[in-house]
Amino acid sequence: MYTDLEGKVVIVTGAGGGIGRETVKRFADNGSLVIATDVNEETGHETVEYAGKELVTFVAADVSNADSMGRLVERTLELHGRLDIAHNNAGVELNGPHLADVTPEQFDRIMAVNLSGVFLSMRAEIPAMLNGSGGSIINTSSGLGVKGFAGQSSYVASKHGVLGLTKTAALEYAAQDVRVNAVMPGVVRTPMVEAIEAEVPGFIDMVTAKHPMGRLATPGDIANAVLWLASEQSAFVSGAAIAVDGALLAG
Ligand SMILES: NC(=O)c1ccc[n+]([C@@H]2O[C@H](COP(=O)([O-])OP(=O)(O)OC[C@H]3O[C@@H](n4cnc5c(N)ncnc54)[C@H](O)[C@@H]3O)[C@@H](O)[C@H]2O)c1
Repeated sequence: MYTDLEGKVVIVTGAGGGIGRETVKRFADNGSLVIATDVNEETGHETVEYAGKELVTFVAADVSNADSMGRLVERTLELHGRLDIAHNNAGVELNGPHLADVTPEQFDRIMAVNLSGVFLSMRAEIPAMLNGSGGSIINTSSGLGVKGFAGQSSYVASKHGVLGLTKTAALEYAAQDVRVNAVMPGVVRTPMVEAIEAEVPGFIDMVTAKHPMGRLATPGDIANAVLWLASEQSAFVSGAAIAVDGALLAG
């Protein structure tokens, strides 16, 4: 438990998905006031049910739309008066086609959500944090933020970009007490990965074998790192990218 997270106001994007849902739950378990947001209202509301209605509010928003993210932060301020923490986590995947077979529309879609989405999220969140007492932002990159993966060029490019935004924002706002870090999950069995498995049977076994610890990450593994980065226990950590991958990137 992190006592300093009690009463903190937190936005989690992609909150209807596997990693986001678990992060929302753990923030709520620590007494934070959570705005759980997603484009998918159905799964977003399921997250509220899972995580606890008292402390969690669902607000629909599209991370790829600047106005939508502006309205999300406005609504957060209306509800709770400030913003302390953000887990910018929404993402989409494209697995399969090699680069020359990726259409410009497919590439743009991945970039719009995974990279512009993190930019537009931070662009809306940071002014609210500067008007308060600083903040902590955690962006979800990936092990594919630092390595390539055949069949995922647009996804890999977007996740490399997330690390660039993270490091630069960390530098720009360090003096104003806004910390900005990233998590780089190994493979987690979420709806995103189940969708790849449905198209490429055996994908999960193949990637499990690559993890030196012999298993995939759980959403809880990732959420634990996110909460640590949000808490005062990581007060001097900013601009970092933390791998949570059972030593996958170590090799
Ligand atoms: N699952 C993995 O193996 C893995 C590994 C490394 C990184 N990641 C990253 O972790 C994050 C969470 O992924 P997950 O595995 O929980 O996937 P998921 O598909 O379960 O959840 C992603 C969520 O993002 C939401 N979303 C998609 N587009 C959106 C938009 N435009 N605006 C707002 N929300 C939107 C989806 O509705 C979904 O609820 C993603 O950024 C993903 O790239 C996942």
